[in-house]
Amino acid sequence: MAEDINNDEKQIIAETIVGETTEEVVQHLNNPVTDLKPIVKQYLTEVKGVKKEGNKFYFSDGNARVEVRVVSDEIIRVRLAPHGVFLDDFSYAVPVVDQRVTTFRLEETETHYAISTSTVTCKVSKADFLVSFADNTTGMVMSEDASPMHWEENVEFGGYYVFATKDCKSEENFFGLGDKSGNMNLRGRKFQNWNTDAYSFGWDQDPLYRTIPFYIGIHESASYGIFFDNTFRSYFDFGRENNDKTSFWADGGELQYYYIHGPHMMDVVKRYQTLTGTHKLPPKWALGYHQCRWSYYPESRVREVAEGFRSNQIPCDAIYLDIDYMDGYRCFTWNKKYFPDPKKMIKDLLNIGMKTVVMIDPGIKVDDNYWVFKEGKEKNFFCRRSDDYFMEGHVWPGRCQFPDFTNPAVREWFGGLYKELVELGVAGFWNDMNEPAVFGAGTFPNDVRHNYEGYRGSHRKAHNVYGMQMVRSTYDGLKKLMRNKRPFTITRAGYSGMQRYACVWTGDNVATWEHLKLGNIQCQRMSISGVPFCGTDIGGFSGEPDGELFTRWIQLGTFSPFMRAHSAGDTSVREPWSFGEPFTSINRKFIELRYRLMPYIYSVFWEHHRYGFPILRPLAMLEQENISNHFRQDEFTFGDKILVCPVLEQGATSRTVYLPKGQWYNFWTHELLNGENEYNIEAKLEDMPLFVRAGSVVPEYPVMQYVGEKPIDELWLNVYYADYEVNSFLFEDHGDTFAYEQDIYLEKKFSVRGDGKNLFIEQTIEGLYTPTYELYDYNVIGVPFKVSKIYVDDKEVTDFSFDDKKRLRFKSNKNFMNIKIFGV
Ligand code: GLC
Repeated sequence: MAEDINNDEKQIIAETIVGETTEEVVQHLNNPVTDLKPIVKQYLTEVKGVKKEGNKFYFSDGNARVEVRVVSDEIIRVRLAPHGVFLDDFSYAVPVVDQRVTTFRLEETETHYAISTSTVTCKVSKADFLVSFADNTTGMVMSEDASPMHWEENVEFGGYYVFATKDCKSEENFFGLGDKSGNMNLRGRKFQNWNTDAYSFGWDQDPLYRTIPFYIGIHESASYGIFFDNTFRSYFDFGRENNDKTSFWADGGELQYYYIHGPHMMDVVKRYQTLTGTHKLPPKWALGYHQCRWSYYPESRVREVAEGFRSNQIPCDAIYLDIDYMDGYRCFTWNKKYFPDPKKMIKDLLNIGMKTVVMIDPGIKVDDNYWVFKEGKEKNFFCRRSDDYFMEGHVWPGRCQFPDFTNPAVREWFGGLYKELVELGVAGFWNDMNEPAVFGAGTFPNDVRHNYEGYRGSHRKAHNVYGMQMVRSTYDGLKKLMRNKRPFTITRAGYSGMQRYACVWTGDNVATWEHLKLGNIQCQRMSISGVPFCGTDIGGFSGEPDGELFTRWIQLGTFSPFMRAHSAGDTSVREPWSFGEPFTSINRKFIELRYRLMPYIYSVFWEHHRYGFPILRPLAMLEQENISNHFRQDEFTFGDKILVCPVLEQGATSRTVYLPKGQWYNFWTHELLNGENEYNIEAKLEDMPLFVRAGSVVPEYPVMQYVGEKPIDELWLNVYYADYEVNSFLFEDHGDTFAYEQDIYLEKKFSVRGDGKNLFIEQTIEGLYTPTYELYDYNVIGVPFKVSKIYVDDKEVTDFSFDDKKRLRFKSNKNFMNIKIFGV
């Protein structure tokens, strides 16, 4: 039939089918094996009544019910039960739904019900069941239904396809959704969430490895967020099918979403993290430079690479063993030919400050002589199909079965399997292929059954959380095995909340300039989607970068939360010295910079963990009121003090930089520039443009070849003069235990205030940790006056000088309370 109809006719048929988008109907028509039958979507009708139960309000149209739950003063959750009965209230993403609410009330008018908290009002219109959310202060409607929530029965699996359609304002832009390719602003595009092994993915390819069904909308300078907590295959349309509508829908489960109030994008992200959790503080060594390859083997090659770092004096904290360290790719075994004595090798590497990280995949080789398979089989821990056959598929080891990580008992078992590797001294674990990926088929068939925390479900429901539950098992297992030490785990797949268990890398990218640009956007996007500890395969996984591309990638990687170079096995060697000079020296300079800035980087991680701030902040977040910034995507701040402007064009020797509000110092030249302007900045290969916010205190450690190489005997404080007051902070602790949860840490706050003639620095210290150093060594940059006297806690400092870069240099004890620098 499809061939007999032209596109105009398809369009007409499409428009006559109730509730179906044109694109979907044209798809039906183009598929000759699908009968064209009208798809009947059912919509909520009118509100017949409301019932209150604590912080929950139940609205009904006589058949379907909607629950509106006041989660906090700024977060409201909405759920739909098409035939009145809600599903079990369980979520892998949100461990605890209710937060602190100061006050809320319900009001009824002729046309609607209104539930108000101290900041937000959620209205439900009586006549057509439309739900909206408005800001109490401005009265501005942030998000509102364009049509009532609707659904469609799923004849094959039971349950419903569920849909929400909201207004998309003419000037509205969208951000978030975690692991998406292409431009940062999501307006005008449609996306799908279905965790996918996307080898060599392209610009705009969708879906990729992870599912984060959370987006941020911005219009009229105000932001809000929607978190559609649904693990089934889900979809988002940001004004693509209809320019004035935003929709999200899923192939099953409940229509359940959280409205998260702003009005600032930062508020939205922080509040999203109160639902799904933040990343714990990683061990400090995890923030160093890491070297990976598929694969470094045999042992002699691993040693050679590790020693190469030390002989080239390029800092590095970890070397990775990809699948070839295993015996026939059997997880938790060693290939004894390549690695005859892993314990000794790991110890020797540790002696030169190099930690070992190994890969563990979910596919367990079907082999009755293999202990992991035997145990899993005996315990009945592997996934099964609907008719009870085992789920079998081919991955690296050949025929495999797969643990059902949605079963708590399976997670407990699998987490314990790391015991021997931990005893051998392995420091970190890398979970890959956990979308789950299966050669040929792509992933599991839909009918595979999962325990799903006892709530049961098919793979349709469990697919998107499989990887997250695998790395959860790894993280929890390691936490027990490593006693009080912080585990370091990496995952490829995940779902919202994955940040509680692991960091991520963006998967199998390609050694091209386009991928450098893409990786820059991807890490920023992950950061504002609640997954802050993210990095790309520096240099590109497949393909061959030249020295310039590799060096530009190292520069971007210096400011990626996770800094790891990785490459596929069929590519040329790729260590930071592989390209010769001048690249080796420039790579060294930037990797050293990462270590110099370690106290700043670590403090930014703490700020994320403790307060939910994203680590990378795109310009759209820094100045959401400036619409041009909704389209500027190649700069970001790391924390709130350092603006990073990576060079993403081949052959570039300068680039255009936009500086946000305030004043900024060029990190290299110390030139002071005014914000809210664009500049053309020199960016020779050795100089990626970096800026520091005036008024900042940026702490620095001496360069180390690895974290903890030497005790720190002096802390450098780079103070950037400003004519106004700016606060900075520094977090310090032991670096690899959970003692910080018992308040064993230090949080130092610095306030810097200049007035053109004088400069005042104040410090407050909180916490119970004692650092190893006694002194601060100051570099005050940009002092605009001639210095006459310096006092530290009213004691005069006579020993001060200006260095060749015009920086004021002096020292103080670490516990000072105030410093006064007076001009002549
Ligand atoms: C996958 C991973 C890649 C790894 C390879 C072999 O492609 O994404 O990082 O090197 O598998 O384990």
